[in-house]
Amino acid sequence: MNAMFGEWLDVGCVDEVPARGARIVATGQGNIAVFKAADGVLFALWDRCPHRGGPLSQGIIHGHAVTCPLHNWVISLETGNAQGADAGCVRKLPLKVDDGRIHLSANVIAAGPGK
Ligand code: FES
Repeated sequence: MNAMFGEWLDVGCVDEVPARGARIVATGQGNIAVFKAADGVLFALWDRCPHRGGPLSQGIIHGHAVTCPLHNWVISLETGNAQGADAGCVRKLPLKVDDGRIHLSANVIAAGPGK
């Protein structure tokens, strides 16, 4: 266990997330989108675009970024920051893979997506 992140919650199997796709994890704090890039790297962000709250899980993944389906902002999956001329950030969640299972930090989930 990592003290900074506290308990880790098992949220599903790596194979359940399609490449260049996303899977939603519903929590009491809101939905989390777990993305898998074409190269197999996984990312977890709150499923809420920093522009006007669009569902990033429904966006198009390219490289390590996702384009929001509502107004086409491009959000970095690595940082949660909007790219280009747009300004804003969605909170990223720590993620680890253990024995083919995806785990997210319970502490960070409890802290919620922020503003
Ligand atoms: S809500 Fe995502 S770009 Fe507008």
